[in-house]
Amino acid sequence: MFKLFFLLLIISFCSAFDFIFQPGPLVPASKGEIWPKPQHENKLDDGFFSLLPTFFHFNPIGNICNTLTEALDRYRKLIIFNNRRIKEVYYKARSCYEGGDQNFLGYLTSVEVELTGACNDEEYPSFEMKEEYVVNVTSTVQRISSDTIWGILRGLETFSQLIYLTDDYSCHRIGTTSIHDYPRFAHRGLLLDTSRHYIPKEHILKLIETMSYNKLNVFHWHITDDYSFPYVSKAFPQMSNKGAFHPTLMIYEQDFVSEVQEYARKRGIRVLAEFDTPGHTLSWGLGNPDLLTDCHNVPQLKWGPINPIKNTTYDFIFKLFEEIKSVFKDEYTHLGGDEVDFSCWKSNPEINQWMAEHQMEGDYVALQSHYIQKLINHVDSLGLNSIVWEEVFTNGVQLPKSTVVNVWISDDPKTTLKQVTEAGHPTIISSYWYLDILKTGGDWLKFYNADPQDFDGTDEQKRLVLGGEACMWSEVVDEYNLEPRVWPRASVAAERFWSPPDTPKSAQNLGELWTIASRLQEQTCRMNRRGVAAQPPSGPSVCF
Ligand SMILES: *[C@@H]1O[C@H](CO)[C@@H](O)[C@H](O)[C@H]1NC(C)=O
Ligand SMILES: *[C@@H]1O[C@H](CO)[C@@H](O)[C@H](O)[C@H]1NC(C)=O
Repeated sequence: MFKLFFLLLIISFCSAFDFIFQPGPLVPASKGEIWPKPQHENKLDDGFFSLLPTFFHFNPIGNICNTLTEALDRYRKLIIFNNRRIKEVYYKARSCYEGGDQNFLGYLTSVEVELTGACNDEEYPSFEMKEEYVVNVTSTVQRISSDTIWGILRGLETFSQLIYLTDDYSCHRIGTTSIHDYPRFAHRGLLLDTSRHYIPKEHILKLIETMSYNKLNVFHWHITDDYSFPYVSKAFPQMSNKGAFHPTLMIYEQDFVSEVQEYARKRGIRVLAEFDTPGHTLSWGLGNPDLLTDCHNVPQLKWGPINPIKNTTYDFIFKLFEEIKSVFKDEYTHLGGDEVDFSCWKSNPEINQWMAEHQMEGDYVALQSHYIQKLINHVDSLGLNSIVWEEVFTNGVQLPKSTVVNVWISDDPKTTLKQVTEAGHPTIISSYWYLDILKTGGDWLKFYNADPQDFDGTDEQKRLVLGGEACMWSEVVDEYNLEPRVWPRASVAAERFWSPPDTPKSAQNLGELWTIASRLQEQTCRMNRRGVAAQPPSGPSVCF
């Protein structure tokens, strides 16, 4: 019966591609499918439970700490208040009656949560964190288990996604299943640019919360750029006083940075700070007038990149990174280094004289190297690992092997990945997932089909791929259009970063495309129900 229904829908979907129009949603949402797809999921049989929202609770049977109890509380609420769009669902579901169905296994009032390893409220998620977990829902055992709190968080998300509403909204069902899951890549990021538009604080927190619904685990905070410097530095308060769009309303104080990190920690998400230099720093010059290079007769440019020949530059930048080290908890920092325009350096006589005195006459890459090497050495002495944008590598700047190269240029990322990994650098790939580039009507497909390890290289080279990132550059994005632009398009990248490499590339056949599209539709509706303004991914549709 179910299979026939399925088949009919595939046929109707294929028909849509043959331009036979018919009413109803083009892609109906699946029910109780997990996004991103787990590594191993074994649906046991047709048996199912119904959750009684008013009684439902989690029962911790292993180690416990605040991080865990708060997560249990969050997920209990997400499950009980399953539908913010249709308020009566909550009340209707209190009178769920399943009596007549032979596959009905009973009303589920609790699920065990077994954390076997330590639960520590002080520990921050890190690159090395383990996120493996098991969710078992059988007639005899209903349990979420993991060695780590991070795995439990992922398992709770999965468990919450298994629950679906019956068509009349009266019952919250969950089918029997056994899931063993862990991520394909350790680094699964979302970049947010908070310089080109100021993104208000509550929107940053909500973005992080929504990342946890998609098992993304690195919030890459591109906090400053040419247009504004919203980060409030204790050592250099002038930087935001002069460089932010507004000195008190459009800033991120250190208390807020701590709040972001704590909020992210509770959801198993790292906060990766990026203070991009020596280019992309015009706004830095407002708070520190000696920092930037004076351009001499360069059209449209009065100031250029950070001036790399002045000692005061390093006094400033080293002190700033010392503060960054003390404020941000992660062991990685992103140093930027992209799109350094040499025209201003070329125009400046003092810089050319200094270069001649230092045996690098006319070699502006060597000048860039001089700057970035000093910065990397300093950051390294602070105990931080460096990530740089790809130009630092492709320009030929000498880098320590451990420096992570972030590939982003879309022309030929496969060649860059090959070269970066040949040189032994770990890498993160962003090129394929630029959320600011828009194409209407299901543009998620190209995001879905891209693969971080799809390049010509040895297994050892492939292992140097730490993961990927979706990037939300904010030239034309502010708090009003942030959510629909990011979700569910970043969810698609999230599945590519988490799920096994053989998760079908959707273009291969229409049946697979249909399955993925309907799972993505469910994930979108799920985010909508949780109050996230995710946009429709595939075409005419409906969410309940
Ligand atoms: C989960 O279920 C599977 C399959 O029934 C079983 O092999 C495994 O031991 C169970 N794991 C836990 C942690 O309950
Ligand atoms: C800059 O620092 C270098 C190395 O410490 C030193 O030799 C040089 O005299 C300094 N220059 C100025 C202008 O202070």
